[in-house]
Amino acid sequence: MSARLLTTIAQVREFTGVARRQGHVIGCVPTMGDLHAGHGALIERARTECGSVVVTVFVNPIQFDRQDDYERYTRRLEGDLEFCAARSVDAVFAPAVEEMYPEPMATFVDVPDLARHLCGEFRPGHFRGVATVVAKLFHIVQPDAAYFGEKDAQQLAIIQRMVRDLNMAVRIVPVPTVREPDGLAMSSRNRRLSPEERAAAPVLYRALRAAENAVVTGERDAAKVKSAALGVIAGEPAMRVEYLEVVDAMMQPVAEVSGTVRLVAAAWLGQTRLIDNLACEDQRRREHRPGR
Ligand code: PAJ
Repeated sequence: MSARLLTTIAQVREFTGVARRQGHVIGCVPTMGDLHAGHGALIERARTECGSVVVTVFVNPIQFDRQDDYERYTRRLEGDLEFCAARSVDAVFAPAVEEMYPEPMATFVDVPDLARHLCGEFRPGHFRGVATVVAKLFHIVQPDAAYFGEKDAQQLAIIQRMVRDLNMAVRIVPVPTVREPDGLAMSSRNRRLSPEERAAAPVLYRALRAAENAVVTGERDAAKVKSAALGVIAGEPAMRVEYLEVVDAMMQPVAEVSGTVRLVAAAWLGQTRLIDNLACEDQRRREHRPGR
């Protein structure tokens, strides 16, 4: 069966109203389209937990810090509809920009404490645009649960905090990163890589694994953990690191590893920006956990 295509907010309210009256739990998977197996994992998780699954496909202009990046973002709704139909999605909400932004926004949602570092530092206004559109989508779809990838760890942390701070009645479900066989995190942007860049790209994941290895073998000093990763990236001269950090749950860089930390990185290959991250626990915490 094909997924119902909804393009207006009124259609979504009608659709979810019926689903709710039928007693369905509603799951929402917000995306910008150009769907791949990473999005697929979110959809499949939603499908197992919810009676009604709504995927949103909207390239959100207010989260792009560069106009050219917004313009060249791949739009292929037909393919996305087929992708959703193959995974038994109930409805796809794919609004035009005018439907979401009939006039310039005067209200924004901002989570500055979590958006200050990492991607937020290099993409001014990006997370304000993300939080604002996700808040709008939550008000439009009113889902019981919404699914987000750990691949975008800072985005996930910001959405979780927004929901908590603003008492939004939606359960945020994190889904682990889906990777290519060589470790590269799946992303719509990977399609832009030249064959040479694609061959070089997995070095980012290998670097994070080297840092993780340093942590689990007892390294406490974040600077040394970072140099373990940077040493691996140095072997790939085409890659330019934008940031590589060891951060806590608030996405704040730490000097010393303690408890659970996240290794986060962004790097450029030519004109393409890649991000990736890994959560890891220091050895003391692992050893003290009951049942191990
Ligand atoms: P987009 O980049 O299309 O991603 C949509 C969702 O898919 C996000 O939650 C993202 O983390 C998840 N995702 C992407 N690649 C993944 C992978 N390899 N493994 C697991 N999950 C993955 O993120 C956005 O769109 C936008 O910022 C959005 C939240 C829709 C707001 O506009």
